[in-house]
Amino acid sequence: MSDDTVELEARLEEQEAFEPPEEFVEQANVSDASIYEEFEENWPECWEQAADLLTWEEEYDAVLDDSDAPFYEWFTDGKLNASANCLDRHLDDRGDEVAIDWIGEKGETRTYTYGDLHREVNEFAAALRELGVEEDDVVTMYMPMIPELPVAMLACARIGAPHSVVFAGFSAEALATRMESADSEYLVTCDGYYRRGDLLKHKEKTDEGLAQVGHDVSDVVVVDRGGDEYDHDLADNEHDYGDLVAEQEGAEVEPVTRDAEDMLFLMYTSGTTGEPKGVKHTTGGYLSYVSWTSQAVLDIKPDDTYWCSADIGWITGHSYIVYGPLALGTTSVMYEGTPDYPERDRLWEIVEEYGVDIFYTAPTAIRAFMKWGTEYPDGHDLSSLRLLGTVGEPINPRAWKWYYKHIGDESCPIVDTWWQTETGGMMVTTLPGVGTMKPGSAGPPLPGIDAKIVDTKGDEVEAGRAGYLTVNKPWPGMLRTVYKNDDRYISEYWEEYSDSDADEWVYFPEDGAKIDDDGYITVLGRVDDVLNVSGHRLGTMEIESAIVGVEGVAEAAVVGGNHPVKGEAVYAYVITEEGQGEDDAMRDRIVAGVEDAIGPIARPEQVVFTPELPKTRSGKIMRRLLEDIANEEELGDTSTLRNPDVVADIQAKVGDD
Ligand code: PRX
Repeated sequence: MSDDTVELEARLEEQEAFEPPEEFVEQANVSDASIYEEFEENWPECWEQAADLLTWEEEYDAVLDDSDAPFYEWFTDGKLNASANCLDRHLDDRGDEVAIDWIGEKGETRTYTYGDLHREVNEFAAALRELGVEEDDVVTMYMPMIPELPVAMLACARIGAPHSVVFAGFSAEALATRMESADSEYLVTCDGYYRRGDLLKHKEKTDEGLAQVGHDVSDVVVVDRGGDEYDHDLADNEHDYGDLVAEQEGAEVEPVTRDAEDMLFLMYTSGTTGEPKGVKHTTGGYLSYVSWTSQAVLDIKPDDTYWCSADIGWITGHSYIVYGPLALGTTSVMYEGTPDYPERDRLWEIVEEYGVDIFYTAPTAIRAFMKWGTEYPDGHDLSSLRLLGTVGEPINPRAWKWYYKHIGDESCPIVDTWWQTETGGMMVTTLPGVGTMKPGSAGPPLPGIDAKIVDTKGDEVEAGRAGYLTVNKPWPGMLRTVYKNDDRYISEYWEEYSDSDADEWVYFPEDGAKIDDDGYITVLGRVDDVLNVSGHRLGTMEIESAIVGVEGVAEAAVVGGNHPVKGEAVYAYVITEEGQGEDDAMRDRIVAGVEDAIGPIARPEQVVFTPELPKTRSGKIMRRLLEDIANEEELGDTSTLRNPDVVADIQAKVGDD
């Protein structure tokens, strides 16, 4: 341990509460604690404050329509367009201000002012129209962190075509399943992108995916990122993005008037079953909510330089790279590559060069920064930073304090924001201009959010005890349904704790949590079969079905094991078929099977071959036990097992690896 770390531990270890610095509070968008009471007393009308951040073509009739709960509607009959809110309305005052400062991994940069972004979005919207995209057609995007991704999203929003962005790191098969589930006939992709100096041939993966889509895909637009480095052919229904945009030079597309409840986008996410669910977000409620949380929690102001280091392929990027910050007219940094390429100070170099004011990242990244050491941030002037944020998984107090000291120089508040793909935006966090921060605890629910910690019966648990997080009132950014599957919407999120006869609806996010005497919530992690690997959400069932799809595998059980950087890592316990080898070749095939079905992010950290899985007498796999084995923890009661002997065998194997 370095002297510096020792000193930090000594001084900060004991400190459990931190106040936001006065200079921050003085300039904060929200600095008055009365907002909590105000929202409570004036619910749901309080959410007009969020809607007021947008420009509406027609005013809404009601803030909330709960007549068909839990199919809530927000800002009913209001009309607006998301692209007009993110672009057109800024043109007069901020047309020449930077909207996106993009940095490629190789060091090249591109700057889009609001005027530039507006121009290209219009041109691409015109091109999409000419290809035949109509209002309500779902357009899939399979793209990495290049500016054409937000352009394509906003172009879709402009013509009222919902987008469905598939994370570029997902496999060909994952792309195909998502396109099929959404009946999507249009795809925007790119030929390649850079990772640690290499050009990844994304077009090849796209082609593989397209070959697996069961319906006709009418058009594919390909962004040329590889340039001369990558020659590839375009099929008859494939178009070069640059050509399409050039053909539409100067085109203007009138933003389509959308109803507040019209779908803005779909985002597929993992759940308990093997099939990812299409989370449906709407135009009015979602955009209001992400704009409001961007200004209240991230404290974004138009003159800021803001940077969220997430990937746009996940919800964090949708809400807090694209929609929230652009709706507020701020300048965002967007970076293509990884934090450690070419050097481990890449992010800090960017913060210094661009004078980043607000930085929002994930605990897994912070744990990696800690591991690399303080010399990387210390070598840069990070004094432009005013606010830090984290999202995606619990942050341990040590990582929080490291972030606070070594990145924020003890002068930036940290917002630890709990939320989900389904919630659309942040739900539980301190307001940085108002609340005391407690490392390890996200904070109280945001104003207007009614979160409680309950036991299995739905009764509130006392402070300090672990229970289940629930949300007892709807909010504008909430998902409206699981795409084409209203039953799944009810069964996944509402059935557990609601009393439908009494018309009392409680949203269950599937997270465990505890609350302290001050109402601060510590989120403990998922209580369903969903893993959180480096902040990426993965379903154990999806991984298991990929593994049992490998020839020679009879059965598999996947659990999460603790990991110092990733938070959780994938542990796969596998039974092979009679006569099949339990060797490295089989292990490689299993890993390849998972990468093909989902992507490298789901790659098992350990594959443990076992002749049996621990099962209860009724035949259920005891996953808890497998988790304890992965974590080398003391095992609980094994007496209910049908095959208790297997446990010691598995333990020995995990220990060996
Ligand atoms: O378990 C919670 C964890 O991430 C899950 C949601 O994952 P996803 O839909 O991919 O969205 C991630 C980005 C919003 C949650 O159910 N999670 C998210 N933020 C936190 C968190 N766990 C603890 N603390 C957080 N701040």
